[in-house]
Amino acid sequence: MEVIIQPTTDKAALLVARLIARRLRAKPALVLGLATGRTMEQVYDYLADMHRRENLDFSLCRTFNLDEYVGLAPNDPHSYRYYMDKHLFSRVNIDKRNTHLPNGAARDLAAECRHYEDLIHDCGGIDLQLLGIGADGHIGFNEPLSALRSRTREKALTPATIRQNSALFRGGEGAVPRRALTMGVGTILDASHVLTLVTGAEKAAILSKAVEGPITSMVTASALQLHPDCRVIVDEAAAKRLRGRAYYRWIFQNEPEWQEFRNR
Ligand code: F6R
Repeated sequence: MEVIIQPTTDKAALLVARLIARRLRAKPALVLGLATGRTMEQVYDYLADMHRRENLDFSLCRTFNLDEYVGLAPNDPHSYRYYMDKHLFSRVNIDKRNTHLPNGAARDLAAECRHYEDLIHDCGGIDLQLLGIGADGHIGFNEPLSALRSRTREKALTPATIRQNSALFRGGEGAVPRRALTMGVGTILDASHVLTLVTGAEKAAILSKAVEGPITSMVTASALQLHPDCRVIVDEAAAKRLRGRAYYRWIFQNEPEWQEFRNR
């Protein structure tokens, strides 16, 4: 795992967008794992910008989102399908048939989850998975005690997640669905590369547990420590409680692979 500290939220999101763009340029038929949430909005703004200004090409790119609420139709403004259309898919030249989210309105949810795993497998697996971390340390909707080898399945959301996500629901906490379909921790760990973005002071405590604490299913983001190619990009506010801050800064300033991203 590598932790990269950026001075501002903006710079952290821009770095994530640049890393995605670099992979997409190197492999136009990239299989990209995507996340929703407030943290990602800026990343998608930057990617849309790069498409417009630099012709960043999504025409061959295939995407798989981490999760979707159970019971919400794709055209529901609170669904993650709607979020993705709004923040990214409608703003770039992606072929909508190449964009995938689990269908939370499916009649047979277990079959839908198996089908989702098969689709990922048939595409050759995820090349690059984008992640955020929830207030309770989740990745996807892998809430505390999710098995670290879990696959795509239905999960009940914790009160902390319902509270966190209620900001995006007009009806408040009562309007947030109680269940979701989510890639498992095992599904996420199968991706070839993982890019995690964590910003804001309110994530500082959970970030230090995820990155520097013990690996535990109580904080499913801690399973990322097992991944051989995982980068965690953070802003100064989120980094505040990391004990290894000085070393992480040194890495960004000195390792040759980061050279093209310094001073930009
Ligand atoms: C979203 C997802 C979640 C979020 C996490 C952070 O698809 O899988 O794990 O990444 O809850 O959400 P924000 O960015 O809203 O704090």
